[in-house]
Amino acid sequence: MANHGQASFWAQANALLRKNLTFQRKRIWTNVRLVLVPLFLCLLLLGLQLMINSVANKVPKAITSCASEDLSLSSSGCPIPNPPLLPPMLEIPEPQSRAVKSNFLPYSDLPDVSCRKTGTCPVTILITGNNQSLGQALSGNIFGGSFSVNTSDLLPSLAYNVLGSAVSAGENNYDDPAIDPEFPIYNIQSQCRRPNATWPLQFGKIKTKVKCVQGLCLWRNSSAEVNDEIFKGIWRGNPERMTNEIAAAYDLMSTDTKNLDVTIWYNATEYDSSGPLVRVPRLISLVSNAYLKFLKGPGTRILFEFVKEVPRQASNNNGLPDLASMFGPLFFTWVVLLLFPVILTSLVYEKQERLRIIMKMHGLGDGPYWMISYAYFLIISILYVASLVIFGSAIGLNYFRINAYSVQSVFYFIYINLQISVAFLASSLFSKVKTVTVVAYIMVFGTGLLGSFLFGELIESPSFPEYGILALELYPGFALYRGLYEFSQSALRGNGMKWEDLGETGMAKLFYIMSVEWFVVLLVAYYIDYVSSSGKSLFFFFKKSSSVPSPSPVQSQTSDNVLIDMEKSDVTHEREKVEKLRKEGSTGHAIVCDNLKKVYPGRDGNPPKVAVRGLYLDVPSGECFGMLGPNGAGKTSFINMMTGLLKPTSGTALVQGLDICKDMNKVYTSMGVCPQHDLLWETLTGREHLLFYGRLKNIKGSALTQAVEESLKSVSLFDGGVADKPAGKYSGGMKRRLSVAISLIGNPKVVYMDEPSTGLDPASRKNLWTVIERAKQNTAIILTTHSMEEAEFLCDRLGIFVDGGLHCIGNPKELRGRYGGSYVFTMTTSTEHEEEVESMVKNVSPNAKKVYHLAGTQEFEIPKQEVMISDVFSLVEIAKSQFTVFAWGLADTTLEDVFFKVASTAQVFNTLS
Ligand SMILES: *[C@@H]1O[C@H](CO)[C@@H](O)[C@H](O)[C@H]1NC(C)=O
Ligand SMILES: *[C@@H]1O[C@H](CO)[C@@H](O)[C@H](O)[C@H]1NC(C)=O
Ligand SMILES: *[C@@H]1O[C@H](CO)[C@@H](O)[C@H](O)[C@H]1NC(C)=O
Ligand SMILES: *[C@@H]1O[C@H](CO)[C@@H](O)[C@H](O)[C@H]1NC(C)=O
Repeated sequence: MANHGQASFWAQANALLRKNLTFQRKRIWTNVRLVLVPLFLCLLLLGLQLMINSVANKVPKAITSCASEDLSLSSSGCPIPNPPLLPPMLEIPEPQSRAVKSNFLPYSDLPDVSCRKTGTCPVTILITGNNQSLGQALSGNIFGGSFSVNTSDLLPSLAYNVLGSAVSAGENNYDDPAIDPEFPIYNIQSQCRRPNATWPLQFGKIKTKVKCVQGLCLWRNSSAEVNDEIFKGIWRGNPERMTNEIAAAYDLMSTDTKNLDVTIWYNATEYDSSGPLVRVPRLISLVSNAYLKFLKGPGTRILFEFVKEVPRQASNNNGLPDLASMFGPLFFTWVVLLLFPVILTSLVYEKQERLRIIMKMHGLGDGPYWMISYAYFLIISILYVASLVIFGSAIGLNYFRINAYSVQSVFYFIYINLQISVAFLASSLFSKVKTVTVVAYIMVFGTGLLGSFLFGELIESPSFPEYGILALELYPGFALYRGLYEFSQSALRGNGMKWEDLGETGMAKLFYIMSVEWFVVLLVAYYIDYVSSSGKSLFFFFKKSSSVPSPSPVQSQTSDNVLIDMEKSDVTHEREKVEKLRKEGSTGHAIVCDNLKKVYPGRDGNPPKVAVRGLYLDVPSGECFGMLGPNGAGKTSFINMMTGLLKPTSGTALVQGLDICKDMNKVYTSMGVCPQHDLLWETLTGREHLLFYGRLKNIKGSALTQAVEESLKSVSLFDGGVADKPAGKYSGGMKRRLSVAISLIGNPKVVYMDEPSTGLDPASRKNLWTVIERAKQNTAIILTTHSMEEAEFLCDRLGIFVDGGLHCIGNPKELRGRYGGSYVFTMTTSTEHEEEVESMVKNVSPNAKKVYHLAGTQEFEIPKQEVMISDVFSLVEIAKSQFTVFAWGLADTTLEDVFFKVASTAQVFNTLS
């Protein structure tokens, strides 16, 4: 079949996209669950909010009632464009707790306790100052006469009266809890003619009543006395167990006809905030009015008609904490950050399982990989965030509803892009999924907490400089927190974030920071990925000569190497062949290794380790070259260099005439790899694997289906629906066969197989061998193995790799002939005949060597050139006639023997040199 040429960028992207779509379709529920996480978290938040609301027994009213002018709306979130006018009032004690005469207080001017029975106790105001006659004159002017009101001109006429209430003020002046049908409003006057009479009074829709109460202004000699009296009055621990509350007190101090100089005692214990202060202005106006009357006569007065609060925009404040807006920044920072570990672990997983590498080796370029992975993460992130915003809005969180959706979309879009880029960057730091999972989750929770308790404080702190904030926002987690914080502030203020607000709130700068960072991080991540995946040094821009080998240790190794090579004519021959090929500039050969070397730099004081010392090798198309060698001999380093995982320290190799140091990406398109461990996607079927790799090899349309089918048949994975079972359910042998099929699909020119039949039962192994045998017709295969049987069956030539170098090259027969020129003869007799056997063997072959003897069993090595097999048979016949022979055997040397011999002599040689 023809070579299909290099797959274009879009063909690769298409292959990966289809594979990923199949892959994601199989884990659709995982994806759906991920996207539904925000819904779950929003519901959790809603549940909490409802719980708080119901505990406070104050379920927020339907917003629809905002239209009415009802004063009770003041505590809901409705806008109040036109606050009501309220009559100013004094705060006075309840009738039962107003100050009366008691043994406890020394003053005889207080009323008698009997007034409590009738509920007519007067309200007491104390006055002190430097000038008693002035104080007393003012006292007379404080309270008014009888209640008079003009209902058609209510408020101005009420200003002539001194009103009071025992009901504490609310937090603001949008309404007054004192205006309530349940409670009387008191008209405080110097004398009540009808103490228990009430007058009806109508404020808007509310009907209430006015009741007269007597106001007492009592002079005290000093402010210390006033203080003492007020203090003792409310002391519930006093012996008479009653409270004697004073409504208020004035200290006129040095007031005279020129100056009004006054201190006021008032009761503000009901609220800790500024609430009750709304009752204070009337106290001030009372004393000012009294002073004016004292100066100008009773005809002049200061009228205090009404209080009016400032108008208000609609707000979120229904009197209860809005959890979403209060904890939103922290909570939603966590929610959005949760995507980060998901993306990061997914990236690191592909790295850890080496799926990325194997895809690359089959021709998947970095560009398509990045594009498709990025697009996938972007889509899943968009769905996730959209689900957050949509569900958040649907369950009525103001946090999402009130801010302009376009601003939110742009913010989240920039942020998730930044987050994905950072994940790509971070993935280059980690290689283990476990580590990265732990680190990422710690980061998520740490970022949320730091954002909320450190960064959040700094945003609010006026003394922290703005550039400090901007610097902190370079950390994406804080940038996210900042954005969410601004959204929550807008939601709490009730106006919502719009495009025109961006400048004021710092969001504009945030957008710039995040966008710029997104591009920078993406570029850096791509660069690092490119550099690390192509085996180059991280700073290869700066090190121009990185391909020049480090000098001294390698050079000295080379001289050793030459020495060794001198001994082995086959290795020298290979070297000459390669040098000739290189001189001729021939490009036809599939694989040509030219003095390929790998030296691992010394670490922690250890000397540099030479893994591959100057390798020359020529593998033409149609040949299967077997590499034998003990573990640690450097076979894997060699394969890794050839497959682009490692960069050679010096020397190079040409694959189809392309230099692996320069054109690795092109090499990949005509290369197949069967790694030692199966690198498969558990959920994808055999057919899907082959389709994917086939597309990567640029096979299209019906050719693809056909190639896949043939490939499946060739490895006997076609019948019985095996091809459509997920690879995770395959047995070890089936996985192995699939790996081989993958490495062979698309007729690659060069295939590397790392121990292809390890762990297979004999039947599957035979099966696999036929497949490889068939495939090698127009392909160069390099195969490493520990099985001599396999090497003998499959390989046209073998190389025994010991200690970083090839020690012999040749076809199996040659090697056996060269290194194993002897038969192995074994005979078992009773012990007394041992010597007879030995002498008979020596007779036949004087140079025979006894390898071992044990309890009558002896083994000899007999040089082939000295004997004929028939000699040995006649020897056995003679022996049998003379004594009992329990057992005997004659064997040709195996490849195994050759391997042992070469390996051990090479190692001895190397330790000597
Ligand atoms: C006290 O006030 C009166 C006016 O009511 C004034 O005539 C008198 O001089 C003042 N006494 C002192 C000591 O200032
Ligand atoms: C009540 O107020 C109205 C409107 O200001 C005025 O016309 C009317 O004369 C007043 N009535 C009395 C009794 O003062
Ligand atoms: C206050 O002072 C006046 C005279 O200055 C005195 O007669 C009166 O007893 C004093 N009152 C008290 C409670 O000390
Ligand atoms: C102040 O007001 C509170 C509540 O209205 C009351 O319990 C307290 O006794 C008052 N204190 C005085 C000094 O009147």
